[in-house]
Amino acid sequence: MDLEDLPGVGPAIAEKLRDAGLNTLESVAVASPGELVATAEIGEAIAAKIINAAREAADIGGFETGDKILERREGIGKLTTGSKSLDELFGGGLETQAMSEFYGEFGSGKTQLAHQLAVTVQFPQERGGLNGSTIIVDTENTFRPERIKDMAEGAELDYEDVLKNIHVARAYNSNHQILLVQKAKELADELVDTEKPVRLLIIDSATAHFRSEYVGRGTLADRQQKLNKHLHDALRFGDLNNAVVMITNQVQVRPDAFFGDPTRPIGGHIVGHTATFRTYLRKSKGEKRIAKLVDSPNLPEAEAVFSVSKVGIRD
Ligand code: GTP
Ligand code: MG
Repeated sequence: MDLEDLPGVGPAIAEKLRDAGLNTLESVAVASPGELVATAEIGEAIAAKIINAAREAADIGGFETGDKILERREGIGKLTTGSKSLDELFGGGLETQAMSEFYGEFGSGKTQLAHQLAVTVQFPQERGGLNGSTIIVDTENTFRPERIKDMAEGAELDYEDVLKNIHVARAYNSNHQILLVQKAKELADELVDTEKPVRLLIIDSATAHFRSEYVGRGTLADRQQKLNKHLHDALRFGDLNNAVVMITNQVQVRPDAFFGDPTRPIGGHIVGHTATFRTYLRKSKGEKRIAKLVDSPNLPEAEAVFSVSKVGIRD
C-alpha cells in the first residue's frame, strides 16, 4: 500500500509528505495532525482522517499488552562501545529503540565514541555489533575518516569497506539539522533490505546549533519547541528502524553552584526527558575517561572507566 492509497491523499499531497520525510505509512501513522497540516497544507479534519487511515493500514498505535511489549523488546539489539566496562554500565551495550545521550566538556570523548560506534555497529552480532550501517549528522564538522581508519584497523576490518557503510551529512544550521534527520528516514528505507540496514543514528552535537542560534530569553521557548520535535523525530527513527540513537551534548558551567560539580548539560529538560539513557563523560588521567550513567529507565546510577586510544574506545 502506498501513501496515495490513503483517503484524501492525491499525488500532490503525497509528494509534500515525502518531501518532509513522511514517506511510509508508519511515519504518517505516528505524525501529529499539526505536522500534516503544516507540511501538506491541508485542514485539521483531513489530516486526522489521513493519520487514522495510516494507523489502520500500518497496524500501529493504540494499546498493547505487556507480553507484546516484551516480545518487541526481545528484538532490542545491544551495541558494543569497544569497552567492556562501558558496555556493562549499559547492561551489555547501547540499546536499539532508545536514545543514548552523552554529555561532557570538550575533549571528554563524545565524538571519539561516536566514531567508534560507527565502526562497531558493523560488527556481526557475535562481536557485539548489529551488522548494520550508520547515519551521522555532523553539526560541528568533526567527522574524521582518518579516525575511522585507525579504529577499523584496530578492529581488524578493511577500512574502505567500513567507510562505505557510514553515511555522513554536515548540518549547517538547526533547520538543516532537523531536515537531515527527516532525510535519514529515506536513506534508511533505501537500505532496509540490503546487507547493512541502518542500525545507528548519530547526532553530534544535537544541541550546538540550537544553542548558538537562539540567544536571549525571548527565543528560548521557540528553541525548546524545535529541539523537542527534532529529538522526537530521532527517537522515532530508532523505533522504526530498530536502531541505536546516539546524541552528544555540551555542558555549561553553572555560576550559581556553590558545591558539587558546577557543570550541567545544555538543552534543559527537553533533552533530559527525551533521552532514554543519559551519560556524563569526564576527563581523567591521560587517555582515561569516566562515564557516569545519570539517568536510565532500568539501570542503577553507576560509573565506568574507559580510555580513548589510537585504535579507539577500550577499557
Ligand atoms: P567537544 O566536541 O569539543 O565538546 O569534545 P568531544 O567530547 O567530542 O571530544 P572528542 O571526542 O573529540 O575527544 C578529543 C580527545 O580524544 C582528544 O583530546 C584526545 O584526547 C582524544 N583523541 C583524539 N584522537 C586521538 C587519537 O588519535 N589517539 C588518541 N590516543 N586519542 C585521541
Ligand atoms: Mg565533539
